Amino acid sequence: MAITVTPIHPHIGAEIGGIDLSLPVGAAAVKELWGAIDRHCVLVFHGQDISDAQLRDFAALFGPLEIGRAAARPGRRRLQFPEIGDISNLDEDSHIRARDDRRRLDSLGNRLWHTDASYMPVPVVLGMLFAVAVPPAGPFGAGETEFADMRAAYDALSDRQRALVDPLVAEHDVFWSRGQIGFTEFPPGEREQYPPSRQRLVRSHPGSGRKGLYLSAHASHIVGWPVPEGRLLLRELDEHATQRQFVYSHKWAVGDLVIWDNRCTMHRGRPHDEMQPRDLRRATTLDVGSTLDEAA
Ligand code: OGA
Ligand code: MN
Repeated sequence: MAITVTPIHPHIGAEIGGIDLSLPVGAAAVKELWGAIDRHCVLVFHGQDISDAQLRDFAALFGPLEIGRAAARPGRRRLQFPEIGDISNLDEDSHIRARDDRRRLDSLGNRLWHTDASYMPVPVVLGMLFAVAVPPAGPFGAGETEFADMRAAYDALSDRQRALVDPLVAEHDVFWSRGQIGFTEFPPGEREQYPPSRQRLVRSHPGSGRKGLYLSAHASHIVGWPVPEGRLLLRELDEHATQRQFVYSHKWAVGDLVIWDNRCTMHRGRPHDEMQPRDLRRATTLDVGSTLDEAA
């Protein structure tokens, strides 16, 4: 079976065909998929039927796996493997979480444009989301996940804008991003466990050599700038980078797997009918070093 790669948007995203992820995936296929990731930043697979163990093992072919903030907490979880993030509105017993459930309110932070784990000193590379249950639409969305192309956004800046942002470093802090939506009730100890991290504002994407903005809701200010000024610059760049022409909106169907490269995208979840289950499973690969050590 030959892997097919079909672009689905002028800038970002391609649909992958000709591969069944429930079967063993060899090194040649992984290499082809890396090529497609480097070119398109977002890959969409339809009609897959995989368990959490298969998702974990497939993701591990692309790098060491992250154990996310929620999975690192003590206590019972709905999902078995700590490498599989629970991106759902369900509690340990698979019931819809109450409206004021702290885990639910924390995860609503995913509705802001962000890159995953940019508050970690060594952030993550690939996110892989697999759809197990998809909710009906609500008045403001159908639970889509949207992806914005940070390389196209960078390319669309003027020369003067690029010269300004190229050398800058931003501080990223999960307490800042959650605070923006008024969520402050973190479990004891998490503030100490996840201190802010500094990241380059512009990164060179290793697989393509293209530069991209490295933005995220976690980014709280620009190092060395007065806080209000840096915050306004970040806002300006967020608005620029999330214009519709840079965005692919993924409308989920059960059995979809979406892979994105956090080094060249931002993403956000959209609202949906909150009374119905939405169940996505996420595996995430880790990067090897700080963005501060990358060449500009
Ligand atoms: C994520 C995320 C958005 C969504 O899993 O990292 O941001 O649509 N998800 O659930
Ligand atoms: Mn995310």
